Amino acid sequence: MKSLKSSVALAVVALAGFGAAAGCAADNCYRALFPCPSPSAVSVASAFCATITASGTTATNYPTRATNACGTTAARYISACQCGPTCSYLTVLGTTSTSTSPQSTSTASACEAPPTSTTSTCEATPTNGNLLSGDFECGVVPWTAQVFEPFTNVYGISVATPGLTNVKSFQTQFLGPNNCATTCTYARITSPVFPVTPGAKYKYTFATWFDGVTRGFVGTKINDRTGRTVSALDYPVSKWRFHHYPFQANATENQVSVFFEWLNVESKLDSITFAPVTAYCGSTPPIGTLPDGEFECGMGAWTQQKPDPAVTAGVVNLAADSLYTNSFPMGDYAWRVVSPGTPDPANQELHVSARVISGVMSVTPGKKYLVYFTSFFSNRTVGSVGVMINNSPIYTRNPNDSAQGVPTYFAPNHILWTAPVGLTSASVKIEALMFGAGTIAIDSVLFVEVNDSVVG
Ligand SMILES: *[C@@H]1O[C@H](CO)[C@@H](O)[C@H](O)[C@H]1NC(C)=O
Ligand SMILES: *[C@@H]1O[C@H](CO)[C@@H](O)[C@H](O)[C@H]1NC(C)=O
Ligand SMILES: *[C@@H]1O[C@H](CO)[C@@H](O)[C@H](O)[C@H]1NC(C)=O
Ligand SMILES: *[C@@H]1O[C@H](CO)[C@@H](O)[C@H](O)[C@H]1NC(C)=O
Repeated sequence: MKSLKSSVALAVVALAGFGAAAGCAADNCYRALFPCPSPSAVSVASAFCATITASGTTATNYPTRATNACGTTAARYISACQCGPTCSYLTVLGTTSTSTSPQSTSTASACEAPPTSTTSTCEATPTNGNLLSGDFECGVVPWTAQVFEPFTNVYGISVATPGLTNVKSFQTQFLGPNNCATTCTYARITSPVFPVTPGAKYKYTFATWFDGVTRGFVGTKINDRTGRTVSALDYPVSKWRFHHYPFQANATENQVSVFFEWLNVESKLDSITFAPVTAYCGSTPPIGTLPDGEFECGMGAWTQQKPDPAVTAGVVNLAADSLYTNSFPMGDYAWRVVSPGTPDPANQELHVSARVISGVMSVTPGKKYLVYFTSFFSNRTVGSVGVMINNSPIYTRNPNDSAQGVPTYFAPNHILWTAPVGLTSASVKIEALMFGAGTIAIDSVLFVEVNDSVVG
């Protein structure tokens, strides 16, 4: 626990000390003035700096939090103001991020890639969203992390291993007795501001991992939008769970920042992406390798088979259909099968009325993959969904599964699959096994390599 606390202290110093321009004094005064983990203090300092002139003659309203370190003569404030603030918009990930993550033993060349790189594991690729470093592979930077008073002695933040994807994740933890009587916000992590296209639709993803603390929740917000919450009670203990939320930028909204807050809970957080939903068209989705998994551009790399001529099947625009208004498909399109009546099994293939088969992806034998998708059932008697990799069945979703919830919602499915010896390519097959009249739909299919030690 001590090492965790000291890692937090290190992170604060490294964040605050970073980015000083040559010729300015990035000293104790600078760090006191611009404590990056506290954006509100940074903004107070920035406002103050705007009032100070080069000669210092107007500077009297020194921020109280800085006077211990800076004193009350103008010169040190002038010097510090010339340096910053730069913390919220860090663009160089190299040395700083290594020092925010003392657990790191590697020199991680990926960390030194410039932000425009398309190969770095530190950030989403520019064509697939502008939110940087959502995988925490190079530490917390450029995110801003805060533990709120008075919890700094009982709550800590760190970079932990493993992540859902790759090696690292962000982690919050209780370090001592939790003295919070009501609902307390312990910590927050805020992304840098990044550009979005006004009017465009986005998909925001992240993964959480809760341990045995069975209360509280992680909240997240996009700009000033109503927050979304992920409750520790709703998810299995010590397992990664993937989440996604839709977002549409309004007509004038051209930038976004997201944040997470921890209320009465500790968790890990990983694999954050924020990309146009159309970025899931084609073979380079923002996360994973499965092409066209959102069906936003139609079938794309998918192939459809429809043994039962009585059903209709295909990619449809659900936004145009009020039946789906509250069912939460991602984006506008999903793959849907509709059976007008009870199917005749003679027309089906082992009860399969229709199926989709993904494009082929490279896999490494022995590596672990998450197969994620959302499923929709019009009612509980319509049938079930089967998943195969190549021709081996790996999973069934029954509409009566508790994880599916009540009918008429797109609900998440998490499947962990390890590529067997000798297998170097994989294709995901999703089948609608229909037993009654009604609708089955599939959306948001992902295929992502995960850390070897991730448990399902
Ligand atoms: C999984 O995480 C561990 C650290 O906990 C790391 O050593 C290992 O390389 C990771 N595996 C993958 C496949 O990223
Ligand atoms: C659009 O979004 C911005 C940023 O969140 C917000 O300030 C503004 O009020 C929104 N405009 C409308 C018309 O909702
Ligand atoms: C789900 O449960 C209902 C009874 O509540 C049953 O009629 C139905 O067949 C079940 N669905 C499947 C796919 O097993
Ligand atoms: C299931 O839904 C279909 C149409 O959506 C309907 O025809 C059928 O009667 C429903 N089944 C039950 C048991 O409600």
